[in-house]
Amino acid sequence: MTSAEPLLSVRDLRMTFPGRRRAAAPVRAVDGVTFDVAAGETLGLVGESGCGKSTTGRLIVRLLEPTAGSVTYDGRDISHLSQRALKPLRKDLQMVFQDPHSSLNPRQTVARIIADPLLVQGTPAGKARTRAAELMELVGLIPEHLDRYPHEFSGGQAQRIGIARALATGPRLIVADEPVSALDVSVQAQVVNLMERLQHELGLAYLFIAHDLSVVKRVCDRVAVMYLGRIVETGPKEQVYAAPAHPYTRALLSAVPVPDPAVERARERVSLLGEPSQSSRPPGRRGGPDSPAVHPPGCALRPRCPKAQGICRTDTPVLRAVEPGAARQVACHFPEAA
Ligand SMILES: Nc1ncnc2c1ncn2[C@@H]1O[C@H](COP(=O)(O)OP(=O)(O)OP(=O)(O)O)[C@@H](O)[C@H]1O
Ligand code: SF4
Ligand SMILES: [Mg+2]
Repeated sequence: MTSAEPLLSVRDLRMTFPGRRRAAAPVRAVDGVTFDVAAGETLGLVGESGCGKSTTGRLIVRLLEPTAGSVTYDGRDISHLSQRALKPLRKDLQMVFQDPHSSLNPRQTVARIIADPLLVQGTPAGKARTRAAELMELVGLIPEHLDRYPHEFSGGQAQRIGIARALATGPRLIVADEPVSALDVSVQAQVVNLMERLQHELGLAYLFIAHDLSVVKRVCDRVAVMYLGRIVETGPKEQVYAAPAHPYTRALLSAVPVPDPAVERARERVSLLGEPSQSSRPPGRRGGPDSPAVHPPGCALRPRCPKAQGICRTDTPVLRAVEPGAARQVACHFPEAA
């Protein structure tokens, strides 16, 4: 790989699940997602509940095998590798989960939990334990607590354990799936600080998944906004936050509270019509036109978009640069001037 090539390349990635109930339509959870992540950078992936963020993350670390499209890591297509062929790659690609306690085995000591990825790779037990103690210290926990169990730790501490486990094999890319959203706000900042410090010290790349734009504002270099299985806007953080071009990004951003009441009163509110999509809808059900189970032609946001016109009903907008060569891309027939 040359340094100009991204560490991770995702191309037209798709994942269709069978409907969860009998006669339920298949769910197109990920429906043609394309993005890159460079070594050492953070890409924020944001969108409402059910839009396909976790599925995208699980496809990248190959906890799932894609229906179509490709995941290329360090120049190698890993989309359909067998579990055996994936084993050496597991060192490089790790995941941190949303709910720290439910992602840690309650019957294992912290030493065992953190050492587990090393043991899987064949590291001798004594060496793995020593490394687990070093990792405890690296993530701000007391190494003497190695023989405690997960329930003896707070939520923030448990997430530090999850991060230590992800770091055990020296990964280059971590998919962090809502790593702070289950934590109290004060603890969220500590865990975000820790992740930033580790990124600088270890040169990690993150795919940082969150359901709101305010959380990723601080951590990401670039942001990708997802709606019903597709990326609708992507670009450098400063550009997307300063002048969102897609109606969906504008609505998401305008829902983020601003601390200054004067700014909050003066700013423009951008609303979408109707209910938020499938968060309140049972998964896999044949829902309305904004359900991932149903894909009418045209733009998926059309039923909720105040800017929709005739072409939005017939032509699916594709992600394209806002101007030739621009890093910002938008999938909308009528984007705001960027
Ligand atoms: N194993 C599965 N079988 C069937 N449908 C699934 C499965 N996993 C996810 N889905 C469906 O795929 C869609 C995307 O789910 P996903 O968990 O990726 O969304 P998300 O953006 O991570 O949501 P959240 O913010 O709530 O975590 C949803 O409609 C979900 O119900
Ligand atoms: S393509 Fe049309 S419906 Fe879709 S977001 Fe743009 S204006 Fe709205
Ligand atoms: Mg999720």
